Amino acid sequence: MKYNSLRPRRLRISPAMRALVRENEVKVSDLIYPIFVVPGTNVREEIPSMPGCYHLSVENAVELAKTVAAAGIPAIEVFGLPEYKDEIGSSAWDMTSPVQRAIRAIKQALPDLVIVGDVCLCQYTSHGHCGQLCGHYVDNDATLKLLQKVAVSQAQCGADIVAPSDMMDGRIAALREALDENSFQNVTIMSYAAKYASAFYGPFRDAANSAPEFGNRRQYQMDPANSREAMKEIDLDMDEGADIIMIKPAMTYLDIVRQTRDRIDRPIAVYNVSGEYAMVKAAAQNGWIDEKRIVMESLTSMKRAGADIIITYHALDAARWLQEGV
Ligand code: PBG
Ligand code: ZN
Repeated sequence: MKYNSLRPRRLRISPAMRALVRENEVKVSDLIYPIFVVPGTNVREEIPSMPGCYHLSVENAVELAKTVAAAGIPAIEVFGLPEYKDEIGSSAWDMTSPVQRAIRAIKQALPDLVIVGDVCLCQYTSHGHCGQLCGHYVDNDATLKLLQKVAVSQAQCGADIVAPSDMMDGRIAALREALDENSFQNVTIMSYAAKYASAFYGPFRDAANSAPEFGNRRQYQMDPANSREAMKEIDLDMDEGADIIMIKPAMTYLDIVRQTRDRIDRPIAVYNVSGEYAMVKAAAQNGWIDEKRIVMESLTSMKRAGADIIITYHALDAARWLQEGV
């Protein structure tokens, strides 16, 4: 063959040509927007390490949900700060807690918006761990019983998806059983299947006041060094009936997303977490990067790695940029 008869640059010659051969694209309908609901009324306070994200009381959360739906984003994930904390995190299934009230109010105002409830205990326990303690150890099977209550309470309020982020063993089977027993066969489980013990959750823990009081989460969240173990976690959750498999964080774990895509046929979600968001926002505020291009390139890389769904604090901005045409 003559040298340079195959010229890849031919397909990059113009915007229209590039559009024709583009392999992956972020769509507004891929996105889930996370929000933080707090007690009280009339609260709308910006979270310092997450510029553009707010602590919202229930009625303001409903207003934001309307904005999210109007932007064409199909789903919202609700996190909450409770009125009280105790050893077992019982405010996590209290039907009068901010999350439960917010889910009910959003469902009533916007029946077509998909509502995701984060199922965990760390925001609700006095010690900040994701389960019930036995000494300094998180008791796996005792915690499953509590997580069942959380998931059922969220389903009762109208959650369409419950998303366990606790990393206890056996939780998908436990939640499926509890949901089915309570006639919530149609409530979807999105499992934080491969959730790593990551420093990228820092701003979230400030925002949700959920940092562990002692130790860390390495006895239950995964070691960032491992990928075979992620495949094991994912296989187990698939066997237990997870409808959607999530990998978290996103940007530093795209190899895991690709490996998972090559193995499974169920939908894959990635969580573009608070620390990833904070780094982009901080650099953008300093004028050091082009925020729009950095965000869209990052989200596109998640799609290219094989994700179907992206949970991201950038969702509202990304929806606007996609509307404008990137
Ligand atoms: C609760 C939970 C966390 C996140 C989502 N659910 C924090 C943690 O595990 O400590 C992190 C989200 C983010 O950083 O944006 N288990
Ligand atoms: Zn937790």
